[in-house]
Amino acid sequence: MPTVLITGANRGIGLELAKQYAADGWTVIGTAREPEKADGLRAIGNAEVMQLDAADADSLDDFMAVLGDRPIDLFINNAGVYGSNDLDRDEWLKTFEINSIAPTLLAERLKPNVAASGQKKMAVLSSIMGSIGDGNGSSAIVYRSSKAAVNAAWKALSNRYREDGIAVAILHPGWVQTDMGGPNANIDVETSVTGLRAVLDKLSLQSTGRFTGYDGRQLPW
Ligand SMILES: NC(=O)c1ccc[n+]([C@@H]2O[C@H](COP(=O)([O-])OP(=O)(O)OC[C@H]3O[C@@H](n4cnc5c(N)ncnc54)[C@H](OP(=O)(O)O)[C@@H]3O)[C@@H](O)[C@H]2O)c1
Repeated sequence: MPTVLITGANRGIGLELAKQYAADGWTVIGTAREPEKADGLRAIGNAEVMQLDAADADSLDDFMAVLGDRPIDLFINNAGVYGSNDLDRDEWLKTFEINSIAPTLLAERLKPNVAASGQKKMAVLSSIMGSIGDGNGSSAIVYRSSKAAVNAAWKALSNRYREDGIAVAILHPGWVQTDMGGPNANIDVETSVTGLRAVLDKLSLQSTGRFTGYDGRQLPW
């Protein structure tokens, strides 16, 4: 069976991704900053839990050393933070590090693992909030700019990785009932993840580099 690697798999959308792929028989590797507290993830019988703090270079080195050269069919960078609405320099940089830079550096480190797999796919959980063209009314400068940056970075990755046969998806999960989305969000995690998995099933080199919603809609950059 194929192997999926999901970051931030201890809660929210990441945990539901781990549950659904495991239920489908995939080999699931889920990362958590604190694996000993990742009860929901550890409760999934066929999921492996690995430690990763995406914003910590030493943690990334340790993670890659444990992972070794295992083939990864599908890498999903799900981990992310909302950050602060205040224009605090250090908080903004931290949000950029987690939402924009870490996913891209991790993709580059995992490229040989994905290239060695059968499916050769990568995806990042971005957000419609990162769309400039969508023009929704949100004034969340820090979060929106960090997701716009990851959109640009992963669009470039899709061009860079095409010759390696790796297809790249940039995804909007909807407004989802999680700690980040809050209880008033439009959809539950099951609906979001069922849709995201359908998009990822269809992902190919023909559709690489697109910004796509959980419902399959193409979104404006
Ligand atoms: N929920 C929504 O409505 C919505 C909408 C659009 C996009 N998204 C995106 O979808 C993704 C998942 O969102 P969610 O709603 O499931 O969020 P969530 O419930 O807040 O969960 C976030 C996950 O990211 C992990 N994480 C945060 N910082 C990390 C770091 N430095 N290293 C490793 N893991 C880290 C968290 O780990 P800890 O438990 O250790 O903090 C947690 O597992 C995010 O990228 C988010 O921006 C969500």
